[in-house]
Amino acid sequence: MFVSNNFLRLGVLSALVGMSLGVWMGANEDFVLRPVHAHINLLGFASMMLFGLFYRAFPAAGRGWLPMAHFILSVLGFLILMPSLALMLLQKPFVLPLMIASEIMLVGSMLLFVIIVFMATMKKDYATTA
Ligand code: HEM
Repeated sequence: MFVSNNFLRLGVLSALVGMSLGVWMGANEDFVLRPVHAHINLLGFASMMLFGLFYRAFPAAGRGWLPMAHFILSVLGFLILMPSLALMLLQKPFVLPLMIASEIMLVGSMLLFVIIVFMATMKKDYATTA
């Protein structure tokens, strides 16, 4: 339940931050950070809510080191990518190595999620909590 609860919590917090950034962009007519807004909402809110709901639907899939590694890589990658993307857009290219590292983390986390989803859905009793 740890992974599910924390994905859901981070998901709603991301929505709050992403939407606030959207309001700020509109109010200031400054759209430079538009990709950051989109990615906070889509990687943060949409993806993390889906991860959280998946682990609710398949509780057994949320146990063990694999979902924990998925969670840590997703959150760390997200928390590093958002500020580094913002700095890149603000013409601070020194963050490029950080940005690349966070992208590798995020793709790695999705690879783990692919394995987790396949393992969960290939079990005969996947619709139950077993
Ligand atoms: C309070 C809620 C929100 C506000 C005020 C808001 C505001 C904005 C603004 C001002 C833009 C730029 C439009 C332009 O450049 O013409 C934008 C773009 C965008 N928003 Fe939002 N938004 C909100 C919620 C969301 C949510 C919930 C999502 C996704 C789940 C989302 C995804 C996007 C995407 C994908 C773009 C286009 C980004 C791009 O072209 O680079 N937004 N939003």
